[in-house]
Amino acid sequence: MTAQAPAGYTYGSTPPSPVTPDEFEKLKATVLLTADDEEALRMAGDVLEDQVEDVLDVWYGFVAAHPHLVAYFATPDGAVLQDYLARVRGRFGRWILDSCRRPYDGEWLSYAHEIGLRHTFDKKNRTDDAPSVPHISLRYMVGFIYPITATMRPFLTKKGHSDEDVERMHQAWFKTVTLQVALWLRPYSPEKW
Ligand code: HEM
Repeated sequence: MTAQAPAGYTYGSTPPSPVTPDEFEKLKATVLLTADDEEALRMAGDVLEDQVEDVLDVWYGFVAAHPHLVAYFATPDGAVLQDYLARVRGRFGRWILDSCRRPYDGEWLSYAHEIGLRHTFDKKNRTDDAPSVPHISLRYMVGFIYPITATMRPFLTKKGHSDEDVERMHQAWFKTVTLQVALWLRPYSPEKW
């Protein structure tokens, strides 16, 4: 990965994920993630590399347009924390490219677990020392899969790829988002996971 690491980005130095290799393989098989998808994600990384800020503008616009979502970037009284939004944005951008380009190995799995923790009572706010609400409701984690997937498609069409390749990249993106949200849900309820 090139470019300076975003503030609070600790990829490569997080404790191992409690998810076992066998659980991980079965989860990948469940979302039908194949070697072809991994190749399509590499292609998507090249397509998205110089569009990350535009993608983030769309996603942040979506959050800003919904008071019940922007509340998670605000104090319990509802004051939106611009510094917190900005710091998380840097990591969010890196995550887009990590999802496309990183090998899904033990290090990747560890950081996936860390991202899950950062959405919950365990670790939300801690990375940025933000005085925000302490936890993101599980239902919105699942609900977010749709906008994070659907809004990506127009960006995947922008570099002149065939309809078939755009579809491959989009399906692979959908699969990795679903896979990751499934991993991120472990901290919400380890015993039920
Ligand atoms: C953090 C992605 C759901 C609010 C993050 C990060 C990523 C991400 C990549 C940065 C992780 C890091 O620290 O490196 C996603 C995706 C979601 C999802 C792909 C579902 C498909 C949500 C929802 C909300 C939300 C529903 C509520 C509005 C936040 C907040 C942080 C964060 C507040 C900062 C957490 C902290 O304090 O460290 N998210 N997220 N996310 N996300 Fe999400």
